[in-house]
Amino acid sequence: MKKIKTVIYYYSATGNSLYVTQELQKAVKDVEIRSIVEAMQEDKPQVNAECVGFVFPMHYFGLPLQVEEFLQKLTILESPYTFAIATCGVPYWGRPFVDAEKILKEKNRQIHATWYVRLVSNYIPWRDIAADWQINIRAWLAERKLKKIAGAIEKREHHETWQLLRKFCAGYHDKWKGKQQEIDTNFQCDKAKCTSCGLCERICPKKNILRPNGQPVWQHDCVECLGCLHICPVKAIDYGEQTKGRKRYRHKEIKAAELIRR
Ligand SMILES: Cc1cc2nc3c(=O)[nH]c(=O)nc-3n(C[C@H](O)[C@H](O)[C@H](O)COP(=O)(O)O)c2cc1C
Ligand code: SF4
Ligand code: SF4
Repeated sequence: MKKIKTVIYYYSATGNSLYVTQELQKAVKDVEIRSIVEAMQEDKPQVNAECVGFVFPMHYFGLPLQVEEFLQKLTILESPYTFAIATCGVPYWGRPFVDAEKILKEKNRQIHATWYVRLVSNYIPWRDIAADWQINIRAWLAERKLKKIAGAIEKREHHETWQLLRKFCAGYHDKWKGKQQEIDTNFQCDKAKCTSCGLCERICPKKNILRPNGQPVWQHDCVECLGCLHICPVKAIDYGEQTKGRKRYRHKEIKAAELIRR
């Protein structure tokens, strides 16, 4: 059987990481893209390709929890070249690649190239979505950077990137991890706005939302991807008081239906 040239695994709640993956699929020869959420459902996910890539958002200066779990579960049969890309609002401050490398090293695999791609921060409990002009500038810069990254991947170049304040970031990330079961108690749904469309339930990568009476009820197994919050078409979902009146975000090239993975 012919070996696939490049497989890119992606994880994406609001489309930034899926956009990056799709751009690389256009720019690099023979790329197959796979959703991490779908691949997680396999008993023993494995990959055998000349090049394997991972594209994901930075969550609390580190890896999204499902990406960490997936890297632990995945068997990389053979891959001469591996890369990882973290999309983010503020690059360089964090340690997603340190953590990814550590997991792969335990399986005798390494990551040859890492990059941040700065787009828009979707973390609206902290602050509102950037202004349109900022979004446009970042999109333009990201497009240029992605062309360079695609060239480097084709040439199998090695690339390292800054990961500043690693120790501080590890502490911050671990503290967040410890709060998993309580995170979704911050979500609330405005019944007057909710149309019971079910999109929040379908978009949740953890199947953490049930709708016994039409509106979402969170089941305390949330990875805080914020997919439900951003994708609700009528802004019926809020995260505490902080997100009230703030904008919602989805990458303009990505449709909501493309973010449903199960
Ligand atoms: C829980 C959470 C934590 C985040 N932490 C960071 C962070 O530490 N640094 C950063 O630059 N962006 C952070 N972000 C923003 C995302 O990394 C960024 O918006 C990413 O591009 C979203 O990708 P997606 O659209 O593919 O989900 C965070 C987002 C979430 C939901
Ligand atoms: S996505 Fe929004 S409108 Fe649709 S069911 Fe969920 S909360 Fe209600
Ligand atoms: S409940 Fe919302 S924030 Fe939590 S994992 Fe599901 S979609 Fe993501």
